[in-house]
Amino acid sequence: MGRMDNFSPIDYGELVQEDRIHGSLYIDEDVYNDEMDRIFHKGWAFVGHDSEIPNVGDYVTRMVGKQSVIMMRSKDMKVRVFLNRCQHRGNQLCNEKQGNKRALACPYHGWAYNTEGELKDVPYKGGFDKPLSDFNLEQPRTDDYRGFVWACLAQEGISLLEHLGRATELFDRACDLSPEGELNLTAGWDRHRYLANWKMLPENDTDGYHVNFTHRSFVEAIDSQYGDFVQEEESIEGVVIDWGMGHTEIDFARGYKEPLKWFGVTEAKVPEYVQAMKDAYGDEEAMEKLRVGPPHACIFPNLFLGEMNIVIFQPEAVGGCVQWHTPMFLKGAEQLNYRLLRQSEGAMGPSSFLVADDATIAQLTQRTLEQGQPWCDLSRGMGREVEEPNGNLVSHMTDETNNRGFWKHYKVVMEG
Ligand code: FES
Ligand SMILES: [Fe+2]
Repeated sequence: MGRMDNFSPIDYGELVQEDRIHGSLYIDEDVYNDEMDRIFHKGWAFVGHDSEIPNVGDYVTRMVGKQSVIMMRSKDMKVRVFLNRCQHRGNQLCNEKQGNKRALACPYHGWAYNTEGELKDVPYKGGFDKPLSDFNLEQPRTDDYRGFVWACLAQEGISLLEHLGRATELFDRACDLSPEGELNLTAGWDRHRYLANWKMLPENDTDGYHVNFTHRSFVEAIDSQYGDFVQEEESIEGVVIDWGMGHTEIDFARGYKEPLKWFGVTEAKVPEYVQAMKDAYGDEEAMEKLRVGPPHACIFPNLFLGEMNIVIFQPEAVGGCVQWHTPMFLKGAEQLNYRLLRQSEGAMGPSSFLVADDATIAQLTQRTLEQGQPWCDLSRGMGREVEEPNGNLVSHMTDETNNRGFWKHYKVVMEG
């Protein structure tokens, strides 16, 4: 099924069907190479957050598909993204994960670029006659939404706002939990390597069906909407939402009555934060924001607004990826941030339940797909999902509306 021989192009229309997808999409090297090109290089990918590099010369290095990039705060305070390669003979320019540099000097022959990416110095100038300005660093198209910096290696194509579509609302919902409307992703990142295809991460993180099984021990330890192990569909009030463009969400808010339920506290526990929110947004709006809480949403292809955590999916190979996560600190909410750090470590840190549970499942699934499992069924809920006026598709929390939403967009992109 699927690939007829090694020479025919991959038929994504056949492999991605409305109600099921083919297992080869997780294990085929050629599919992976197509994805890196069509999704990660020709489309928009999340790079980092501008709060990670507050000062001139601050930088982080990240992967955009197969391409290493440097995100740097330039002297004019603009955030720029550079391809991480020297324009002399292509050596990798920056080999640290993060830091601060007054200039980017190549370790091979010492060519030096300023924080704006301009080549400023070539050692032993005598024999080199070309204009330095012909050798500035390459910059992909770069844009940001509320501090979330994205890059697109193709100079042509849709804008970031077109790529995000309606899902900008989800970023607003996260940022507006800060009385200053801004996030601070400064706690550092945990990284977990999964021996599984990268698509397992966005597919799983907004899958509301697995929680009661994969994360049984976690569900038992917290106060959750999932209730008894015996399935009572009606008791689950959250919904899954396909936002279009491959962006998907589990909206727990539809089951929240009181403020701060999502944080597991009452107003009395964090009075300074509640007051700061009221001062910033007015009583009524503040209390509604505190009831609704943060989004739980995957933004295509590699970002997860994971409630009070921000997560990056980084593909490494067809059968391997890395999940990055950092707590979502809120500017102007120091009282909350301390608790948040502890919660984040508990939920997603090295000894947490959630990451280990999901990683185990992903790796076991990857193995059966490698052994030849042909199809993955995604039909659950097809008969009961509802289109809302804004175009979102909404269904019961256990339905596979989100998986279908991811793959629908995947198919559009992969078919070009
Ligand atoms: S490759 Fe960078 S200076 Fe030569
Ligand atoms: Fe999970």
